[in-house]
Amino acid sequence: MTSKAGTAKAGSAPNPRRLPGDLSHDALIDRIVRVDHAGEFGAQRIYEGQLAVLGRRPCAKTIRHMKEQEERHLAAFEGLIRSRRVRPTILHPLWNIAGFALGAGTALLGEKAAMACTIAVEEVIDDHYRRQTEALGDDEAALKETIEEFRAEEAEHRDIGKEHGGEEAVGYPMMRAAIRAGSRAAIWLSERF
Ligand SMILES: [Fe+2]
Ligand SMILES: [Fe+2]
Repeated sequence: MTSKAGTAKAGSAPNPRRLPGDLSHDALIDRIVRVDHAGEFGAQRIYEGQLAVLGRRPCAKTIRHMKEQEERHLAAFEGLIRSRRVRPTILHPLWNIAGFALGAGTALLGEKAAMACTIAVEEVIDDHYRRQTEALGDDEAALKETIEEFRAEEAEHRDIGKEHGGEEAVGYPMMRAAIRAGSRAAIWLSERF
């Protein structure tokens, strides 16, 4: 899938929905690949942080399943960083620490808080990936397909969080709002830096 998404078909029509003043094709791809690479790395670190705390609990199997999917997503974007010659975000060291801290920190509040974190993050990612697929034209069908596939798995993670009582976590509305705001800020920064 990485190789499929690695090359754009030459000569096909650009996205007709792109408006004047929108990013150029190259700038759009640059931004998408950099932020998604950063996001998948952060997601993997969140689940690593959760497992550091909850690794022996019954929910660990579920968290490990989600982490394995994030590793696959990350590997795909690592391939795209190379094939599309995109500079990774300079904030990588920050996401390394912040992702793990978010995962471990919520897990220390309990399994439901960890699942609340998953719901909040994956809600934002679902929306983020939807916007990206809307911005991509048919000339980037392979990349679009990759993002759609990952988006379905992020939605699965969100639903797992709900099934495991994330919405019943103490202080859920505030935690959800804070994590959503943090995730949106991380996206904004990783697109640009
Ligand atoms: Fe992911
Ligand atoms: Fe995810």
